[in-house]
Amino acid sequence: MTSLTLKPSTAAEAAADALVVGVVKDGGAPALAPGHPAAEAADAAFGGRLAAALATVGARGGEDEITKLPAPDGLGAPLLVAVGLGATPSSGTFEPEKLRRAAGAAARALAGTEHAAFALPVGDRDALAAVAEGALLGAYSFTLFRGERAEDDSRGPLARVTVLDAGAEDAAHQAAARRAEVLAAEVARARDLINTPPNALAPADFAAAAQSAAEEFGLKAEVLDERALADGGYGGILGVGRGSATPPRLVRLSYTNAAASATLALVGKGITYDSGGISLKPVGANETMKCDMSGAAAVFSTVVAAARLELPVNVTGWLALAENMPSGSATRPGDVLTMYSGKTVEVRNTDAEGRLVMGDALTRACEESPDALVDVATLTGAMTIALGNRTFGVLGADEAFRDLVHETAQRAGELSWPLPMPEELLEAMKSPVADIANVGGRKGGGLSAGLFLKEFVADGTRWAHLDIAGPAFHEGAPYGYTPKGGTGSAVRTLLLLAERIADGDLTG
Ligand code: BES
Ligand code: MN
Ligand code: ZN
Repeated sequence: MTSLTLKPSTAAEAAADALVVGVVKDGGAPALAPGHPAAEAADAAFGGRLAAALATVGARGGEDEITKLPAPDGLGAPLLVAVGLGATPSSGTFEPEKLRRAAGAAARALAGTEHAAFALPVGDRDALAAVAEGALLGAYSFTLFRGERAEDDSRGPLARVTVLDAGAEDAAHQAAARRAEVLAAEVARARDLINTPPNALAPADFAAAAQSAAEEFGLKAEVLDERALADGGYGGILGVGRGSATPPRLVRLSYTNAAASATLALVGKGITYDSGGISLKPVGANETMKCDMSGAAAVFSTVVAAARLELPVNVTGWLALAENMPSGSATRPGDVLTMYSGKTVEVRNTDAEGRLVMGDALTRACEESPDALVDVATLTGAMTIALGNRTFGVLGADEAFRDLVHETAQRAGELSWPLPMPEELLEAMKSPVADIANVGGRKGGGLSAGLFLKEFVADGTRWAHLDIAGPAFHEGAPYGYTPKGGTGSAVRTLLLLAERIADGDLTG
């Protein structure tokens, strides 16, 4: 794990392998982002010609742009890395997400480097937090399954981050740095789980990971295996898992704090591999389906983060774990399952499996009457058609709570958008043989999935549903602090939500 230190020092004192400065786009040319003494000292070491030197090698100051220059003597670091911040905002203050992305891009460009000092404009605590988060989130790599190739590309992630911050001695800044470290470590935990190939992460392996984290961080973990699930009547989870050689699990992972007055329940979709089942996915749609446990990974990480930060709120995580496979024992299109709630579901399409495992877990979570309930799932391809690959949808029957979760995501620097749950879409999920069918019409597929889940949420529950099918797994080139593969989507939102509930934001 990359380490983080805050230092008030200027460039000359900041001995490191690289110094990172920000540049803005000033017309067509780069200009040094103002307001950082270490960046100004760097400019002085370049004889006041740093921006000109950057322009000479083609820098313009655009967002995510990285330019490297050998540093002159007197800088404390042999390498200068200039990262573009785009145009200077009219307010003069950079949005935290801009800083987070820039720091992440710089950290990625510094893979293979031991230690970098960041001299980006950190005017206040939020800016500092963003730079620290971005740098740590960008310093990520997944090499667990590389074997011999690891030696070929041995450029490990940036190992040490120092953020140069005038407020480094301030307790609030130190707390923000500590939070950034925990946050980045827990986003990395989620990314690692998502990136782990499905033959190495069966439901029982995921449950075992939760149990060992529980021991490490003083949480309570309870695991229902296939026998306990059968005894309990969890027909949704069992129905999805029965085609697989590796049986399903339901994990309850809880963090409690004696000073807490509220409980947040989180439910995560944990399909360790989604082949579609008998309604098999075609080639082209199944290669990345190890990512279908991203919701459970986000929930797991958030519970651990809340514990590590000792938040004064109880957080209960529910991980609905199963592998969706076709076989002679698999659920068929046409089968009827009896869910944990007692409702019956006609399975028309075995590829709509997420809502089946989530339905059971949601009903179970509601039995404990949490003050708020959020579920997270890579639930529908339709959500990616609606919102693209970087934005998750937020649905919920309680519009005020839905909007609070959406606003929390914006504050955390995650893209999200609130969506409706039009009741008429329930019509298409009517079944001639059961209480409800697991698929409706093609149109509004992400919304009807939300309506299906709502059937398993107790009336009056403050509930929101996050469909992270788009942002959970990044197939393109890395950008900002986002790597290829698992992104850890929703962890930052859920952690901030837990903090807001701890602060009494729910009750006002
Ligand atoms: N896991 C998929 C959704 C998904 C798609 C996640 C793409 C990430 C990227 C889900 O289980 C699924 O297959 N949903 C179906 C539902 C349909 C059968 C109603 C879908 O979206 O096609
Ligand atoms: Mn599916
Ligand atoms: Zn799925």
